[in-house]
Amino acid sequence: MAYNLLAGKKGIIFGALNEQSIAWKVAERCIEEGAKITLSNTALAYRMGEIKKLAEKCNAPFFPADATNVAELEQVFRSSMEYFGGKIDFFLHSIGMSMNVRKSRRYDDLDYDYYLKTIDISAISFHKMLQVARKLDAINEWGSVVALTYIAAQRTFYRYNDMAEAKAALESIARSFGYIYGRDKKIRINTISQSPTMTTAGSGVKGMQNLMDFSDRMSPLGNATADECADYCITLFSDLTRKVTMQNLYHDGGFSSMGMSLRAMEIINKGYDCQNCED
Ligand SMILES: NC(=O)c1ccc[n+]([C@@H]2O[C@H](COP(=O)([O-])OP(=O)(O)OC[C@H]3O[C@@H](n4cnc5c(N)ncnc54)[C@H](O)[C@@H]3O)[C@@H](O)[C@H]2O)c1
Repeated sequence: MAYNLLAGKKGIIFGALNEQSIAWKVAERCIEEGAKITLSNTALAYRMGEIKKLAEKCNAPFFPADATNVAELEQVFRSSMEYFGGKIDFFLHSIGMSMNVRKSRRYDDLDYDYYLKTIDISAISFHKMLQVARKLDAINEWGSVVALTYIAAQRTFYRYNDMAEAKAALESIARSFGYIYGRDKKIRINTISQSPTMTTAGSGVKGMQNLMDFSDRMSPLGNATADECADYCITLFSDLTRKVTMQNLYHDGGFSSMGMSLRAMEIINKGYDCQNCED
């Protein structure tokens, strides 16, 4: 259901790769709510082919950028402003990648070149976007910026690996730049801490299916889907949340406030039974 919440607004969506991507759902919802958007991802991601479909569906131009490359990011903001004929009102950072996770490097055996790359792609890229946008004065007053994160920034999750540090840095950048942008331009910056979601990035985490099952059992409302995450992003881009800034907002069905639930305990009890059987 559409509410016309973004009528007249213009924004950039970074990180839509395929139909499973959270950014893909956000792009679709932005259009439904009356916004105009541009899309960005790496040139390689574009060549994979899926993004063209989204660009056509959303009537949105695609501007390539490696999110670690400041010059390329500058070009995305400049081209977007040229396309819109003025400043933007919002952007989404929906980017994450760890070669250590991809190559199954354990946390006590990290490759440090990969580690630096993880932090650059998944966190510093957010700083680069915000700094580029500020230097170009690319965002209208009362604009809104959102980045996606995960609760492993606060708590330790087996196998989330070096992405935990990346997410902690990402959330801190939202606060540090949130102060500067809020003070000077009334622009808000928040992170959404999303439930585990089966996407390309998500499925890179080993044991993802089990993590999703555990998380779903622990959450009184169940895991939040990518579509539901898109709905939440829309509210943050809209004028209904103009005084929300510098927050890490949990969108996780209640997971972050739980200690133990009946449904999770049932599984653990079964596990104990099995262990006893083996004994
Ligand atoms: N899937 C989950 O379980 C989950 C949970 C919480 C938060 N998140 C976060 O949501 C965001 C989106 O991930 P997703 O789950 O939709 O997966 P996804 O794989 O669809 O999206 C990740 C995107 O990052 C892009 N990317 C990687 N390296 C890049 C680079 N150098 N420059 C520009 N773009 C680059 C990819 O091309 C891809 O579009 C990520 O920040 C992720 O950490 C995901």
